[in-house]
Amino acid sequence: EFTPDEKHHIVSLWSKVNVEEVGSEALARLLIVYPWTQRFFSTFGNLSSANAILHNPKVHAHGKKVLTSFGDAVKNLDNIKATFAHLSELHCDKLHVDPENFKLLGNILVIVLATHFGKDFTPASQAAWQKLVSSVAHALSLKYH
Ligand code: HEM
Repeated sequence: EFTPDEKHHIVSLWSKVNVEEVGSEALARLLIVYPWTQRFFSTFGNLSSANAILHNPKVHAHGKKVLTSFGDAVKNLDNIKATFAHLSELHCDKLHVDPENFKLLGNILVIVLATHFGKDFTPASQAAWQKLVSSVAHALSLKYH
């Protein structure tokens, strides 16, 4: 479902992404912009202000983990549903995360990429990435019942 051009935009930007920096910033921004998402991370310690969230080491570690996992989508662009089947089950059955949150995180990720890459994040690149984050959010929601 991704054209060769879209694949190129996705893979070439991904090769320049600092997974720790972008992953932790995306998760931190999710927790700041949509504060109700904090309830899933009650074991993460101090989330009492934007500053506390941005400097929380557990947010950093988990943000890196999530974006590393997101990278599996980049490596499996023709097989995204199967790639996230197990994680979909985990987020549904064990973590009870409302799948709406996958869309929120995906949109935040696009915003973080825009702030990091500026004019290199062209409209065509944004379009390809927007399609990718929607596709990952969809794949993560498939095992919900
Ligand atoms: C755990 C991936 C979105 C909540 C995890 C883990 C991965 C992951 C790889 C670790 C699983 C394990 O320990 O085996 C992803 C991906 C996402 C995503 C790829 C979307 C791109 C979200 C969202 C939320 C969320 C939006 C909630 C707002 C959690 C929670 C855990 C978790 C609460 C367990 C954290 C802990 O206590 O260690 N996720 N996740 N995830 N995820 Fe997600």
